[in-house]
Amino acid sequence: MDQIIVTGNGELSGEIPIAGAKNACLALMPATLLSEEPLTLTNAPRLSDIQTMTQLLQSLGAEVTSLQGGQVLAMSSHDLTNHVAEYDIVRKMRASNLVLGPMLARLGHAVVSLPGGCAIGARPMDLHIRGLEALGAEIELRDGYLHAKAPQGLRGATVEFSFASVGATENVLMAATLARGTTVLKNAAREPEIVDLATCLRKMGAQIEGEGTSEITIEGVDRLSGATHPVVADRIELGTYMLAPAIAGGEVECLGGRLDLVGAFVEKLDAAGIDVEETERGLKVARRNGRIRAVDVTTEPFPGFPTDLQAQMMALLCTAEGTSVLEEKIFENRFMHAPELMRMGARIDVHGGTATVTGVEQLRGAPVMATDLRASVSLILAGLAAEGETVLSRVYHLDRGYEHLVRKLEGVGAKIERIKDQ
Ligand code: EPU
Repeated sequence: MDQIIVTGNGELSGEIPIAGAKNACLALMPATLLSEEPLTLTNAPRLSDIQTMTQLLQSLGAEVTSLQGGQVLAMSSHDLTNHVAEYDIVRKMRASNLVLGPMLARLGHAVVSLPGGCAIGARPMDLHIRGLEALGAEIELRDGYLHAKAPQGLRGATVEFSFASVGATENVLMAATLARGTTVLKNAAREPEIVDLATCLRKMGAQIEGEGTSEITIEGVDRLSGATHPVVADRIELGTYMLAPAIAGGEVECLGGRLDLVGAFVEKLDAAGIDVEETERGLKVARRNGRIRAVDVTTEPFPGFPTDLQAQMMALLCTAEGTSVLEEKIFENRFMHAPELMRMGARIDVHGGTATVTGVEQLRGAPVMATDLRASVSLILAGLAAEGETVLSRVYHLDRGYEHLVRKLEGVGAKIERIKDQ
């Protein structure tokens, strides 16, 4: 397996282009299943998770063509030949479950493997299931697969989510576009990825109002048409690269970055001693003089501080003056980066969903590995500030969510290289 070697090399400076959002693209791609006409996504990120979704859609009979080196995805679901999302693909990536709502709405039936647990938590699908059942679907679990059918077609209903789940909101939103009558989603997720999905669905002819708030209203239509849609910027990739000059020092401009995507995160950066300035091309980030200051962080659904930036923020706070308390409220097991950061000299105490981080003056390079995407990149960030070499194994996690990571960080002066497995 490949490894990445990072050597702390002082201040960073330059520009980093921000790609289209992985998590928006993974919800937009299944939207092709709702229509017989082509759906084209531009500004798509080049990531292994996108390839996995491509394989899944192709296994259902959709055509997916990757153009312009992967930045454009031309999709067509004119003829769907299969309605089973197999375990072998779904287990690799939970977002595979986003084909359930669209297939059910378009075909009246769907069989989708339950994904099983994952490194950051149990992540059940009860909210997806209850939402689709409210629209009239009958769903049974057999042999590890959800067997869903809607023999009379789906019909609009009021769905109140007990938690503002991103995936459940996306699944039920897509299904409701083709349901008969009006659907109201209450306590819906408000993430920018939901807004992007609703914007694209509207271009396809869906009637949707209220996305970006906790109540979304969908008036079902008989059919959806084709569309072309640019994927919104990746706010988690953005936040990750904003932390690079924060932790290593210097000044970096993140091209395509938008303040409205990372508001709660920027407030915490400011409190820690990092300046963020809006420019014509994105966001410019610079570290003020002196040590990073400790700040407390609690993860929350959008517009709160994102769980997907918690690990990276922890890397920064490991170098702060004072003690920071990080509370993880979205996933029950999302501190696997803590023991790895401790191998680099960090002082962290984890109790349940709370991590207490006491900053140290200097992190030191070490061999490390991580079990998920965001945890892995937090170790790369720590490596930028560490003395000596940090060698990260299990690099395939990074390939799921960060395109050209080595090239982007090298571009701002980081000393980083990928060693290919022989
Ligand atoms: N949950 C349930 N039941 C459900 C659905 C969710 O209990 O039916 C729980 C989950 O177990 C979790 C919490 O609700 O504890 C939040 O889950 P949510 O459904 O909101 O998350 P998701 O849709 O599975 C997406 C992102 C994640 C991101 C979360 C939270 C995609 C493809 N994934 O997951 O991204 O952390 O929202 O913002 O959109 C990542 O990119 O590294 C990543 C993990």
